[in-house]
Amino acid sequence: MFRLRWMALLALCLLAVPAGGFPAPSNLIANVSARRTISLDGKWRVIVDPYDTGFGARFFENRKPANKQDFVEYDFDSSATLNVPGDWNSQRDSLLFYEGTVWYKTSFAYRKRPEVRTFVYFGAANYQATAYLNGKKLGSHEGGFTPFNFEATDSLADGDNLLVVAVNNARRKDGVPALSTDWWNYGGLTRDVDLVEVPNTFIQDYRLQLAKGSAREVSGWVKLNGAAQPAQVTVEIPDAGIQQVATTQPNGAAEFHFPVKLDLWSPEAPRLYRVVISSGSDKVEDQIGFRTIETRGTKILLNGKPVFLRGISMHEEAPFRGGRAFSLEDDNVLLGWAKDLDCNFVRLAHYPYNEAMLRLADRLGLLVWSEVPVYWNIDWQNSATLDLAEQQLRDSMDRDQNRAAIILWSMANETPVTPDRLDFIKQLSSYARTLDDTRLLTAAMNRTVNESPFSRLLNDPLGQFLDVLGLNEYIGWYEGTPEDAVRTQWSTAFDKPVIVSEFGAGAPFGEHGAADARWTEEYQAHLFQSQIQMIRQMPFVAGMSPWVLMDFRSPRRTLPFIQDFYNRKGLISDRGQRKQAFYVLQKFYREMAYVPVH
Ligand code: GCU
Repeated sequence: MFRLRWMALLALCLLAVPAGGFPAPSNLIANVSARRTISLDGKWRVIVDPYDTGFGARFFENRKPANKQDFVEYDFDSSATLNVPGDWNSQRDSLLFYEGTVWYKTSFAYRKRPEVRTFVYFGAANYQATAYLNGKKLGSHEGGFTPFNFEATDSLADGDNLLVVAVNNARRKDGVPALSTDWWNYGGLTRDVDLVEVPNTFIQDYRLQLAKGSAREVSGWVKLNGAAQPAQVTVEIPDAGIQQVATTQPNGAAEFHFPVKLDLWSPEAPRLYRVVISSGSDKVEDQIGFRTIETRGTKILLNGKPVFLRGISMHEEAPFRGGRAFSLEDDNVLLGWAKDLDCNFVRLAHYPYNEAMLRLADRLGLLVWSEVPVYWNIDWQNSATLDLAEQQLRDSMDRDQNRAAIILWSMANETPVTPDRLDFIKQLSSYARTLDDTRLLTAAMNRTVNESPFSRLLNDPLGQFLDVLGLNEYIGWYEGTPEDAVRTQWSTAFDKPVIVSEFGAGAPFGEHGAADARWTEEYQAHLFQSQIQMIRQMPFVAGMSPWVLMDFRSPRRTLPFIQDFYNRKGLISDRGQRKQAFYVLQKFYREMAYVPVH
C-alpha cells in the first residue's frame, strides 16, 4: 500500500516540483501576525458536552426559545466562560481530567467591505475542531498542535456574527498522537483565534531560504491566492540592497532564485533581515535569518562549521500557572531558562509549538528540533493515520519554513522496531524531503542492542532514512545506576551524527538525600554528572537535549507526595525553582561554549 502511494506521490512531485516544496501544498495563510487581524481571543461561553448531544441538538445555531412553548435545551449565554486561548483542563478543577467535547461560542460585530476577503485563523485546537459561522459549517480540523484557517468571506454577516466551535480532545487509536502519552491531554482552543483580512488576491504563503548547500543563493517562492493572475511579485531585502521581481505561474506561485551576500544567522549572531514581499495591493513583512545546515560524517555543520548542540528538551507547558503554554510571555520564560543554561539548542518535544516560540528562538539564537507527535505506538497500518501524520508535518513545516532557528524536523519519538513502523516513517520522511530539502531529518530512538553488559549499539533500521540520529537512553534511571553510564561504551551502525535527545532522573524540588537515593536532587545531579562523563566518551555525539527543562503534568505519574501527576525530571520545578542538576548542566555547557568543535 505505502509503496503504491509513495510511487504516485513521487511521480507527482517530480513532475511539479523543482526543489524544496514549491509551493507548499497547504492552504495555510503564512505569517498571520504581520497581517490585518481582528482578535477573537477573550472569554467565550462554553457548554461541556460529554455525550456529544450538541451535534444533534444543533448547538451551533445558538437558538433561543421563540416563546414559552418552544423547546430549547441549551443556552450559551447563561453558560460559564473559558478563556481563549487556553486549555480547559487548567482553567477549571472540574475539567482537569475531562476528555470529550466542549462547545465554544463567541459573538462579534463585523463591517464587510467589497475588496476584502476574511478568514478565521486558529493557532491550534486540541484535538478535533468543527467551526460554524452564523449557523453554517466552515470546516473541521484534526490535530492538536498545528494551525488551520477557513475562508469566512461569504458566511460573514455585515453586523452581528456568531462563531461556534466544537472541540473534542478524546484520544483515538488511529490518532496522532494515539492513546498513550506522557503529557497531559490539554483540550480546547489552546492558541489565538483571529479574523484575518486580506485583499481579493493576496500573498498566501512564501518560502525564502538559502538554497540547499549554498550560502550565496536564495531559493524560494511566493504563492498568491486569488483571481488576478498571472501577477508580479516583488521580494525586497532592503538591508542587503536586494529587490527581485517574478511573475506567478499557473500554480499561483512565483519562483525566486537570486545571488546574495548576507550575514549568516547563528546562535552567536542571530542576524535577521527585514524582508518585504509585495504584489498588487498586498504587502507582507517578515524577519528572516539565513544560514546553512548540513552533516559531514558524524558532524553537524552550521554555516560550514562543526557545531555542538548544547540543548535541553522541553514541553509547551506554561511555567508557574501550568496548562498549555501559548503566550510570548510563557515563551520568554521557557527559552530564557534555556539561555540561562547556556544552551544554543532546544528540543521542542513532542509536537509543534506556538509560532511565537519559533520566532523567539530566531531572535534569541537558539537552534531548534521540531517534532510531530508520532509518539510511542500509533496505528502504523492505517493509511488515514499516515495521512494525518503527513498533514501535521506539512502544516508545521509550512508555518515555520522561514525560521532559521529550525535545523531539524523530527519524524517520531520512541517507536517500536517493526516493519509497519519502518514503512510508515520511511513514507513520512520521504514526504518531508519533498517539502524541505534544506533541513535535517531526525527521530528519537530508544531501541539499542546490548552487545555486552556495558557496550551498546545504536542500529535501529530507521536510521537509514534520517540525517541525524536521536538517542533516548535512561541509564541510571529506568535501567542500571548512574555509574553504569560512565562504564558504558557506545557505538553506532551509521556514519551519522547522534544527538543524545533524552536522559534524565526524577526529583521534586527540595527533596534531598544521599546521591544514591532516588527522587532526590542529589541523585538527579549525580546522574547528570555521570551522563556528561559518558557523552564525553562518545565521539559521534554532536549534541544533547536532556529530559527535561521543567516539571510537567502527566497522567502517568501518580506517586503521591513525589509526582502527584507531574513528571519530576525537570531541572526546574513547575514553580521555577532550580534544582542542583540545573547547575551541573549549566557548568558543563559554559565550559563547552568555549571549546572549539572540530
Ligand atoms: C520518554 C519520552 C518522554 C517521557 C520520558 C520519561 O523517553 O520520550 O515523553 O516523558 O521518557 O519517561 O520521563
